[in-house]
Order: sequence, then C-alpha cells, then structure tokens
Amino acid sequence: MKKNQLLFLAIIFFVNQLHAQDAKMNAFITNLMSKMTLEEKIGQLNLVTPGGAVTGSVVSKDVDDKIRKGFVGGLFGITTGPDKIRQAQDIAVKNSRLHIPLIFGLDVIHGHKTVFPIPLGLSCSWDTTLIERSARIAATEASADGIDWAYSPMVDIARDPRWGRIAEGAGEDPYLGSLVARAMVKGYQGNDLTKNDAVMACVKHFALYGAAEAGRDYNPSDMSRLRMYQFYLAPYKAAIDAGVGSVMSSFNEIDGIPATGNKWLLTDLLRKQWGFKGLVVSDYTSVSEMIAHGMGNLQEVSALSLRAGLDMDMVAEGFLNTLKKSLQEGKVTQQQIDAACRRILEAKYKLGLFDDPYRRMSTDRAAKEILSEEHRRAAREIAAHCFVLLKNNNQTLPLKKSGTIALVGPLANSQRNMLGTWSVSGDFSKDVTVIDGIKNVAGSSVNVIYAKGANLSDDTSFIKRVNVFGPEIEVDSRSPQEMINEAVDAANKSDVVVAVVGEAADMTGEASSMSNIGIPESQENLLQALVKTGKPVVVVLFNGRPMTLTWENDHATAILDTWFGGTEAGNAIADVLFGNYNPSGKITATFPRNVGQIPIYYSHKNTGRPYDGTGFPKFKSNYLDVSNDPLYPFGYGLSYTTFSYSDITLNKKHIIPGETLRVKVTVTNTGNYDGEETVQLYTRDMVASVTQPVKELKKFQKIFLKKGESKEVTFSIGLDNLKFYNSDLKYVYEAGDFKVFVGTNSQDVKEADFVLDK
Ligand code: NOJ
Repeated sequence: MKKNQLLFLAIIFFVNQLHAQDAKMNAFITNLMSKMTLEEKIGQLNLVTPGGAVTGSVVSKDVDDKIRKGFVGGLFGITTGPDKIRQAQDIAVKNSRLHIPLIFGLDVIHGHKTVFPIPLGLSCSWDTTLIERSARIAATEASADGIDWAYSPMVDIARDPRWGRIAEGAGEDPYLGSLVARAMVKGYQGNDLTKNDAVMACVKHFALYGAAEAGRDYNPSDMSRLRMYQFYLAPYKAAIDAGVGSVMSSFNEIDGIPATGNKWLLTDLLRKQWGFKGLVVSDYTSVSEMIAHGMGNLQEVSALSLRAGLDMDMVAEGFLNTLKKSLQEGKVTQQQIDAACRRILEAKYKLGLFDDPYRRMSTDRAAKEILSEEHRRAAREIAAHCFVLLKNNNQTLPLKKSGTIALVGPLANSQRNMLGTWSVSGDFSKDVTVIDGIKNVAGSSVNVIYAKGANLSDDTSFIKRVNVFGPEIEVDSRSPQEMINEAVDAANKSDVVVAVVGEAADMTGEASSMSNIGIPESQENLLQALVKTGKPVVVVLFNGRPMTLTWENDHATAILDTWFGGTEAGNAIADVLFGNYNPSGKITATFPRNVGQIPIYYSHKNTGRPYDGTGFPKFKSNYLDVSNDPLYPFGYGLSYTTFSYSDITLNKKHIIPGETLRVKVTVTNTGNYDGEETVQLYTRDMVASVTQPVKELKKFQKIFLKKGESKEVTFSIGLDNLKFYNSDLKYVYEAGDFKVFVGTNSQDVKEADFVLDK
C-alpha cells in the first residue's frame, strides 16, 4: 500500500473512532437527561462560589444544600486544596438524587502555586514552547489540587495600558496573540482531557473586553465589525480552533448589547460561523449586571442570556431562580434549557468526571509536584526569557560579580509583590526576592548595600485602594527624605546602583485601571536623587502594563523590564543582571511617551495626511506637543550583544495565488555575547478595497547566535498571510503591491517590495 493510502486509512479510522466516542457520549447524556427534572437541568447551569478567590459579591447561600438538591453544576474559587473540593464532590456524588459530579473551576492564570510571569510578560518571550510549558505545569499542579477547569487563557487584545487587565493578556497583536492562545490551550488541555493532569481551558473574555473605552474596566467596547475582525477576534478563534473546551463571555457591551446577552456574539459568530461546540460560561455576575446595563430585571436578563447562547451562569443565580418561570411564560424554550444542560454534561463527560469524579484530587501528587524543584527551575528559566532590556548605556549590564552594589527601591525586598496580579493560589512566602536572588547568584563576591529608598507610593488614599488584598504597599515609618538620604548614601559608597522600582502587584489586574501610568512620585523622587549622585543607575522595573518612562529613558543608565516575574523572579532577575542569561524579551505592547498618545499601537492606519516622522508640519496627523512615535515600539527589546541585519532577498518579485514568496535575511551577532534574537516579519498591503495598517506582524523566528555567528533566516509567505477582511467581512486577498519588512522590532526594519498577481 502506498504511503498516501495508509495515511488516508489512518484518518478514516481516527474519524470513525471519534464518531464512536461521540455517539457513546451522546447516548450516555441522553439517558441521563431523560431522568432529570426541569429543576435538576436548570441546576446544572448554576455555577457558584463558596467565597475565596472572588471578584465581586458572593450571592450563593446554602451551597451544600443546593448541591444536595441538584441545583449546582459547578463550584469555583476554592484555593485551599483538594479537601474542600472533595467534600463538595462527596455531597454531589453521594447525596444528590442523580449523583452527577460537580465541575471545579479556578482562575489559574499564570501558574497555580508555582507562579510564572504575568501573561503580558510571558508573551514577551515570543516563545510559544515555553508558554505552553508554563500552562502544562500550571495544569499539573492545579489538577492535583482538584481543579478541572482553568479560567485561562485571557486573549483580549489590549491597546490601552491604562486598562489594568492588559497584564493578563498577550498584548496588542492578533497574530502573536493567536499563537499564544493556541499554546496555552494545548498546555492546559494536553491531547486527552480525561487525563488526571489535564484541565479544561476557558478562553476569555469573549469578546473585545480589552478595548474598554478610556481604559476603564467594564466599560463599553464600541468598534466597527471590520475592526473587530481585523484586530480583535483572531485570538479567540485561534483558541477555538485549538480545541478549547469553554468560552467565558465578557462584562462589556458590544453594539449596545452586553456580551453575556448578545446573540450575535454567542450564537451567530461563535457557534454558527466558528463552529464552537463547547460550553459558554458567563463572567462573574455578568448575567445580573445586565440589570444595571439597563436590559431589564433578573428574569428578563437571564432569559436574554439563555436565548443568546449562554450555558452557565457564574454566581448570579439568575438561571436558577428565574428560568422555570420564563419557560412557563414562553420566554425561553425547553430546547434551550436542554441544549445548555447537555453542553455542561458533555464538558464533565469529556473531563472523565462520570468515570471518576475524584480523578483530579491527589494529595500524593500535590505533595510531590506542587512547587517541585523541577517546576521552580522551569519558572526561573521562563521568567528570564520574559524580561526586556529597554536601555543599556555603556554596556552597564551585565554587572560584574565583584565590587559594591547599592540595591535600592521599594521592590528590592518585597516578597508580596513578586507574583503580580491574579495569582490566587500563589503563596508569596515562597517567592524569591531580588535581594535574595542577587545573593544566590553573585554570592559573597559582591558587596550589597540595601536601602528601601522610598515607599511604592506616599499617597494614602491610593495606598488604601491598592492594598485591598493585603499590604502590598508597606509604608515605612521614616520620612521620604530620610529614606532617600539612606539610599543616596548607599549609592555614594557603591560602584553601581540597582533601583528596583515600579508598580505594586495589584496596580494592574481587574478593576485596577490607572489614568497616570508613570512611576509613582515617591519613587521618581528617589530615582532623581540617585541619578544626581553620578553613579550608573540600573532600573529594574516591576510593571503590569507599559508605563510612561520618558524621564527614566533619558536619565537612567540601563532599564530592565521584569514585569512581575513570579515565584522565582528574584533568581531570574539576578541571572539576567549578572549575565548568566542574556535577555531576549521583546515588548508585545507599545510603550507610549505620555498618556495622551493612547491608544498607540504599531499596526495603525496611515490617514490621508500621514506624518513622516520629521518636525511638526501643520495639517498632518500629529500632535503639537509630542511626537507620534512611541517611547518603545512593539517588538522592541535589546540584548547584551548586538545583531545586524542584511538587506532582504526575495526568491521572486511577483507571485501568483498558490505560490510562495521566500523572504531571506542574514542576521549576524556583532557583539560580545552569545544571544537570542527574535527576527520579525511584517507586511503592508499597499492598495486594497479597505484601508490596511502600515504594518502587520505575519511571522517571526527566535534564533540563537553565538558571538560572531551569522544565520540565514528564511520566511515563507503565502496567500493566507496576505488576506484581510473586506467590507463584506469576507476573508479575501486582492492582487497588487505589497511591502515586506524584516527587522529587530516593528520600527527598525529592512524592506522590500513584491507584487501579488492575479
Ligand atoms: C471575573 C474575571 O473577569 C474573570 O477573568 C474571572 O475568571 C472570574 N471573575 C472568576 O473569578
């Protein structure tokens, strides 16, 4: 038999197997549903939290009793390990009439107990293998703790750093965002959801949550369909194509209808156009929040959500308390209730919960695997790959493992601020601080003089708002001037200053939007005093968003952006500071010069009066008071070494549909260190029936080059890379002129032209 025939038979066999599995599942669920009362079916649609890691008020009362009656489909937010989960599962499986197991969800966002960098940081590695590994480790740990369902990946494209939740996603670009989405789904789910160490992923927040007006959380997102398709929808679709088991609807409204009750979104787009077959859950009370949106009372908004295509109601208990009445009044149909119930039971079936409802609770596995040495090693390695070197004058970094370092700043010795936002299971007492990391890596060969230098903020009402989850901002009893004096004294006695400054962990994340995204004043004062000493000042930045760093960029000697690096952040930071790892991260969200430039992103449109980057010509699309350019463009990040790029060579100047354009550059490591470089390819469609961005990322490769080494990097561009959504929202290509750009970031590129012929 020929190879092709064998492959064909293998595919047929595989497809048949899938059909047989589906048929078995369908028969099982049909049989189960035939025994269920209406109340029990509606009960499956109810997702409650007993409290714990919550992001709003806890509505549910008498949870145990409800489980016993079959009025609960799942629980979420339990961070205390498998015992409480086992107790709840016991009630469902042993004491409810039909013994239907519960599903247990949790916000596993960037790790479970071994915490990795915040997702925005992870994306800066541009390394989907590492990102997938972080999700795999998170799934292994969370499942040992009894979790079946992770509320991740968050794939909302965000182009407004005022929005606190920009920390939770992969930045501004739909192509990179799609690759990250796919990697995370694969990492969480593996290739067999029934495995004890696999968890069902949940792509969120569907949809457009990252485009909240004014960067204020929960605000409406209003944009044209064209913009949605062009820039915002791809990562959700990528997660769905990767087989994600569930989708979470978002808080925001779209076209005047909140996502949770938006039929166009949840049914027409998600299910009909994209073919999604899994379960759709609301966000936290987003069903009942539609009352405040002005969509009606609890009964009306619950019926609206079910009709729109929502299956499971998180916390609001609108489904539980009103759907029966709505059915009697003809506001919803039995079929709609059945369809939602079936999808929840299917998820449980696929997770293997009907075979063994306790399969993901393993005290033994938890003891062995959670925060294991192997996981911590991975966290350290992954974190180092996420840091971005924003500036490095006079090759100040890497630091020598000798001499005296003044280690200053409110984040240099702050265990509470290492993990970053949304690490509900993380235990900060396990975190490695920067001071400890430096001691671990440099040992006694370096003399470290530590001084806090400043509080994270001195603004008492702001501190109160940030500290809702605990004292992230600890206020020293000394006066700001006393603290600065101590730091300046330390600087004067040292060869170099390392200033660890930036944001507290919860200055980003949910409900943590900011109108001023610079370094808080108390720390700016410290930095200014340090710079005045004339010593080289290396800023190590903790941040959950792109910040405005214009002053720092002008005055600091070096800046290393470390986001919030997770459990092993301190070790990873020291690895990079002392050159054990040469930084290779590149930013995935543009850093503005000031807040007034927002929204600012690399793949903008040209306008009819484009600004060419020189001077301030009148009647051009520019500002009187600031340049159009960002402080740091998308894709930017330095290395301890330098890379040079040859001109682009193309295998042909014209291609026709079906042909491949090969784009070649030679990259040379021209500096003094071995290092990694992310080579980025962008295209521009010069003439099209709808206007196109000035650049769009289409491919990238992360390569390793020894000092002095050159490598030829080849990219293949085909028709799929040149398509766009036209005015009818059809994904099409149009023949004509294109530009291709290759370079080290979205601004610093070589370019060449080619033509797509008919
Ligand atoms: C609200 C958040 O928007 C969402 O991301 C999270 O998964 C849920 N709360 C559950 O905690």
